[in-house]
Amino acid sequence: MKILLINGPNLNLLGNRERSLYGKISLKEIISNMEAEAARNQIEIISFQSNSEGALIDTIQQKGPACAWIIINAAAFTHTSVAIRDALLAVNKPFLEVHLSNIYRREQYRHKSYLTDAAQGIIAGLGAQSYYAALQYIIKREKK
Ligand code: DQA
Repeated sequence: MKILLINGPNLNLLGNRERSLYGKISLKEIISNMEAEAARNQIEIISFQSNSEGALIDTIQQKGPACAWIIINAAAFTHTSVAIRDALLAVNKPFLEVHLSNIYRREQYRHKSYLTDAAQGIIAGLGAQSYYAALQYIIKREKK
C-alpha cells in the first residue's frame, strides 16, 4: 500500500522557520520517521514538497491514483486554494489534512480551510505528532 504525503509552501524550512509555532524538527526528519514506521507496516510513503501550487496539483494528479491515501499539509494554500481541493476531489482518494499548529487558535484568516469538509479527518496543533497520528490512523484503518 502507498500513501502520498504532500507538503506545501515553506514547510521545507521547518526546523528554522518560526520555531515557537512549528517546532525544531525538520521536514526531512518528519518524513524519515514516517517512512520508518510505514515500512514496519509494509507501507510505502511517496513524499513531495513544493512551494508552487501547480507542482502540488500536478503531483496529486500524477501520484494520487496509485495511492490508497493522501496525507496533506497544504500550508498557506489550505486557506486559499480551491485548485488543490479540486485536485484532491478529482483523484477521489481519502485524505487526511494535517497541520503542525492549531489553525483555529491563530489568525482568523487561518480558520478557513478549503480542504476540511472534503477530508476524512483533520489533525492540527500537535506539531510533528499531527503527521504521525495521521499515519497511525491509516495503519489501524487498513489493518481492520
Ligand atoms: C500550517 C498552518 C498554515 O496556516 C501555515 O500557512 C503553514 C503551516 C501548519 O502546519 O500549522 O504554513 O499548515
